[in-house]
Amino acid sequence: MKTQILLILAVVIVCVSGCAVGKSGKEAGKMSVKVEPFGKTPDGQVVQMVTLANRSGVEAKIITYGGIIVSLKVPDRNGKLDDVVLGFDNLEDYITKSPYFGAITGRYANRIAGGKFTLDGTEYTLARNNGPNHLHGGIKGFDKVVWKIERAKASGGILGADRAELKLSYLSKDGEEGYPGNLECTVTYTLTAENELKISYEATTDKPTVVNLTNHSYWNLAGQGNGDILAHELMLNADDYTPVDEGLIPTGEIRPVRGTPMDFTRPMTIGSRIKQVDIGGYDHNFVLNGRAGKMKLCARIYEPTSGRVMEIHTTEPGVQFYTGNFLDGSLTGKQGRVYKKHYAFCLETQHFPDSPNKPNFPSVVLRPGQKYRSQTVYSFSTM
Ligand code: GLA
Repeated sequence: MKTQILLILAVVIVCVSGCAVGKSGKEAGKMSVKVEPFGKTPDGQVVQMVTLANRSGVEAKIITYGGIIVSLKVPDRNGKLDDVVLGFDNLEDYITKSPYFGAITGRYANRIAGGKFTLDGTEYTLARNNGPNHLHGGIKGFDKVVWKIERAKASGGILGADRAELKLSYLSKDGEEGYPGNLECTVTYTLTAENELKISYEATTDKPTVVNLTNHSYWNLAGQGNGDILAHELMLNADDYTPVDEGLIPTGEIRPVRGTPMDFTRPMTIGSRIKQVDIGGYDHNFVLNGRAGKMKLCARIYEPTSGRVMEIHTTEPGVQFYTGNFLDGSLTGKQGRVYKKHYAFCLETQHFPDSPNKPNFPSVVLRPGQKYRSQTVYSFSTM
């Protein structure tokens, strides 16, 4: 009898929770997804904004232009929500002046020396958009194209984990910005009930090519536009980094951080040694401890006034730590806030810069039949 009652109960529970699964544009398991227009590009493409939210009020707004995270609200130690990423209030500013705020960068995030590389004996010439070098995918990189919404839905309930999800896709055509092969990419943003934002990247190609995708959010855990980030405490899970030349191209050396201003293996404020970094702040790739391809801790950042903590885990072998050195007060962002030098930091999980020309760096080559996969998880809590 007991078993029968349990069975009936189980059936009822499955039905109820089943109803909460797969609702699009509505709520499920206290997660919600909303899709609304954000604007139009000059050539008439409609750009949508997708809002992912959870029960604690954590809310990520992502637009289909560049897959940009335009805002991310997370609680401080008193539960007060604040937006912790820099950005703009409107599409036009993103199109005309954004230094990659919140965007997907690709096909190759970061720099390729001289805008050239050789693969299987063929030399490819890429767009040069950073002095003599190629940066973040070229003149019209993945941050400047309109992505397609493949899926925008909230799911969960008793049957599965509560989550709100957005899956975007983009086909980068053979020859785009000089790269070989049609590259079919998807980027999935998943907000969980545990205040995590996961970003998963996948790509396939029809010709051998190089791929390196990341998200270029500018973080300020005290709230966007609320001063500089020099008092944030940073721990980077990296014993080594890749030194660069004056054009910010790695020399190829992998150098220990120990005893240098690059050493964040124990928590240190970002500002403690920044003046000793000769290029005006940090803009370096760190070699993460642990195995490439395996999820591992990348960084932990604590902001003392708000108590906010962000932890980053990634499958990538490296991370570009950039301290907003090129922000100079000339950009006015959301809520009229002026963004000055060091008003944000970026932690761009990635393969190392200029890997296509550095045989000793982990490979970035993707061949037909293979699948590129990369995942980064940002977890928010307070202390
Ligand atoms: C990356 C680069 C920086 C800079 C920013 C965008 O972090 O490493 O040098 O180009 O992107 O301004």
